[in-house]
Amino acid sequence: MKPAPTPETEEEVVLEVRGLTKEFVSGKTSVLATDHVDLEVRRGEIVLLMGPSGSGKTTLLTMIGGLLRPTSGTIRIGGREITSLAESDLYEVRRHVVGFVFQVFNLLEPLSVLENVVIPLNLAGESGKDANLRARSALSDVGMSERVDFKPSSLSGGEKQRVSIARALVHDPELVLADEPTANLDSKNGYDVVVLLRDMAKTTGRTVIIVSHDHRIREIADRVLWLEDGKLSAVPETQAA
Ligand SMILES: Nc1ncnc2c1ncn2[C@@H]1O[C@H](COP(=O)(O)OP(=O)(O)O)[C@@H](O)[C@H]1O
Ligand SMILES: [Mg+2]
Repeated sequence: MKPAPTPETEEEVVLEVRGLTKEFVSGKTSVLATDHVDLEVRRGEIVLLMGPSGSGKTTLLTMIGGLLRPTSGTIRIGGREITSLAESDLYEVRRHVVGFVFQVFNLLEPLSVLENVVIPLNLAGESGKDANLRARSALSDVGMSERVDFKPSSLSGGEKQRVSIARALVHDPELVLADEPTANLDSKNGYDVVVLLRDMAKTTGRTVIIVSHDHRIREIADRVLWLEDGKLSAVPETQAA
């Protein structure tokens, strides 16, 4: 008989980061944006990443998403080492494996809500009726069915962020990375957006890493991490809620 799974072994590790270091050098000055970061995140986990401004949070997230190459260290997503991939294979990771939600909504203004959400599918090689249906379904999941033909400019901030969540999730990524997704929203809309992100992650078993300063997000996160001077740790006592 197989032993009952313990909490530690129940879910597979989706993300494994080892010794991840990024040094930005310009002229004679250099900044160690992340300094030997080690991190493991399991499937379905919601991790909140906090820390002072300039502590390396965005740098860490963009490296995990394959948008920025580390100086040293490794990143594995679903067992696949992405740091050594050629640029063309890294594109594949960005198109299929990760979904990004940013502080600025990055919606394309001339396009409708539906068209904005179809884009990641187009980039992943899916188009036509099927892509439209998937985009509509993603928009329905975030409560935006009634707005598919609207232009982004006619939406409220909270609605725009819902659309960008639909866009981040439409291609069914393994890993969702959200960099201060509530920073441009009022507190009510910000909270609603994060609850939505959490609920969607929990129903589909997706893994989410959220960077935020919002202490209320701590109550919905499975784990809270602290990044300071590029180093990862538990949240310091002085920051305890
Ligand atoms: N492209 C870049 N070139 C040079 N320095 C950078 C670059 N991006 C970030 N940095 C520096 O790296 C450090 C971490 O930045 P960042 O990851 O944006 O922090 P956070 O998201 O926690 O505010 C900062 O000192 C920042 O100035
Ligand atoms: Mg940042």
